[in-house]
Amino acid sequence: MKLRSKEWFGRKGKDGFIYRAWMKNQGIPADMFEGKPVIGICNTWSELTPCNAHFRDLAEAVKKGVLEAGGFPVEFPVMSLGETLMKPTAMLFRNLASMDVEESIRANPIDGVVLLCGCDKTTPSLVMGACSVDLPTLVVSGGAMLTGKFQGKDIGTSDVWRFADASKQGTITEEEMNQAEAGMCRSAGHCAVMGTASSMASMVEALGLTLPGNAAIPAVDANRKVLARMSGRRIVEMIKEDLKMSKILKREAFENAIMVNAAIGGSTNFAIHLMAIAGRIGVELDLEDFDKYSKGVPLVANLQPSGKFFMEDLYYAGGIPAVMNSIQKFLNTDALTVNGKTIADNCSNQKSLNETVISTIENPFNPLSGIVVLKGNLCENGAVIKPSAATPALMKHTGKAVVFEDIEDYKVKIDSLDLDVDENSVLVLKNVGPKGYPGMPEVGNMGIPKKLLDKGVVDMVRISDGRMSGTGFGTVVLHISPESAVGGMLAFVQNGDMIELDVEARQLNLLVADEELAKRKQNLKLDLNKYTRGYCKLYVDHVEQSHLGADLDFLKGGSGSEVLRDSH
Ligand code: FES
Ligand code: MG
Repeated sequence: MKLRSKEWFGRKGKDGFIYRAWMKNQGIPADMFEGKPVIGICNTWSELTPCNAHFRDLAEAVKKGVLEAGGFPVEFPVMSLGETLMKPTAMLFRNLASMDVEESIRANPIDGVVLLCGCDKTTPSLVMGACSVDLPTLVVSGGAMLTGKFQGKDIGTSDVWRFADASKQGTITEEEMNQAEAGMCRSAGHCAVMGTASSMASMVEALGLTLPGNAAIPAVDANRKVLARMSGRRIVEMIKEDLKMSKILKREAFENAIMVNAAIGGSTNFAIHLMAIAGRIGVELDLEDFDKYSKGVPLVANLQPSGKFFMEDLYYAGGIPAVMNSIQKFLNTDALTVNGKTIADNCSNQKSLNETVISTIENPFNPLSGIVVLKGNLCENGAVIKPSAATPALMKHTGKAVVFEDIEDYKVKIDSLDLDVDENSVLVLKNVGPKGYPGMPEVGNMGIPKKLLDKGVVDMVRISDGRMSGTGFGTVVLHISPESAVGGMLAFVQNGDMIELDVEARQLNLLVADEELAKRKQNLKLDLNKYTRGYCKLYVDHVEQSHLGADLDFLKGGSGSEVLRDSH
């Protein structure tokens, strides 16, 4: 076994002295440097990322496992992206964090990596960065919070949107809002519904990057630590087997991830992140593949926001292995996973333990699932909608556009009683795409205008070039590409234009005559030069459109793990 770390710790003379001596200030015995696989534990712990705030404990469990298997664990921090606090949106920094991860791994004497991932963006950013180095790599997710409680009812992040509407209408008091706020996040862990964090944890499990069962074990369940410790043991073996990421992340694994995301009603953000990961590891994947491979896979997991239950319930019902067992006939079951076994090996013995939470495919919770990819003159390169979270009656709908030019315009007008809007209108939000905002925030599930809420309207067709929280729901068309800020058709929509959505026909069209559109296009002014320095400039100059995964153009692919020059 030729260890990469030997290029540091196995050296004689000045270089070896420097590489080892300073490490020894941590009380590390000499034999740790004598040919033990060095395992980097890539930690996104941060008190500003509450979903990952328990990760120092998790890292300790991984370390125990690494030591038990004869490895040398070294924990290191990388940029942590907290969904709730970061402005203007954590997504702006996904690619930046991925660069931190990639360069931290490559520059250091690391033979294999355990990625500690939790809150939404912390999973794709770490996996993307690690793919570009391609060492043996295993993911440990942090696990979801316990189910929230409010007035005797179960609650989770998806209720935030309901509470917001109720508070606008005055049907919930401030005192009750305070109670809900105190009861929702009861324990360590990430959002407890099938939002983006849970979708990402399920994605890495479906891709084969985790030990079986990773996604659903609650953050505070003792079995989470067992999984972390077993992962520590396993990564040491993976180095001996040279089981690199590229041996697991084949095209089949990506197809499996798409099918699992459909079966669990996973987040629309999944599409953007999976494409970015595929781009790093060199697997061809198009937006159309999300539609193609989710077609026919029913929704078997009854989880919020598409259904009723929470991540804790998914765990008690058998977790992702039980979901995969249920949809086994669709999957590429011989795909290899990090434990050296196939998907079939990992899920064949895990039947659903509760069919109201994880159903069979014969009797699914909802035959509609997955991410539908729309095309049309309003989204030449595509847009997405999640039918399981939408209103069936609105899936074929033509209505008058009510346009918000940007997020500020939206905030000023949405609750104005003068807004010219009715329940058949189509709400249109511009300039919330990757370059436009910048960073493509989760604002696509615009609130229902107050005057319609008061009439009892609960859903409307809403379209934008932005994203939606994985915990959100509604008939919401997202990720319109090309975005309005680069002159996509969305930029030319005006109040009163007719917009046609037909989910079954995969169409989203602006019903305006070509001559009129040509006239509008002549008056277009693009303004992307607001950012003159720093990461925002780099991002706006280089970010790709959402249908390609919104990675920076120069980050596609990888540079391997070799570094030829020494530091002194
Ligand atoms: Fe971190 Fe939802 S805010 S997972
Ligand atoms: Mg989110």
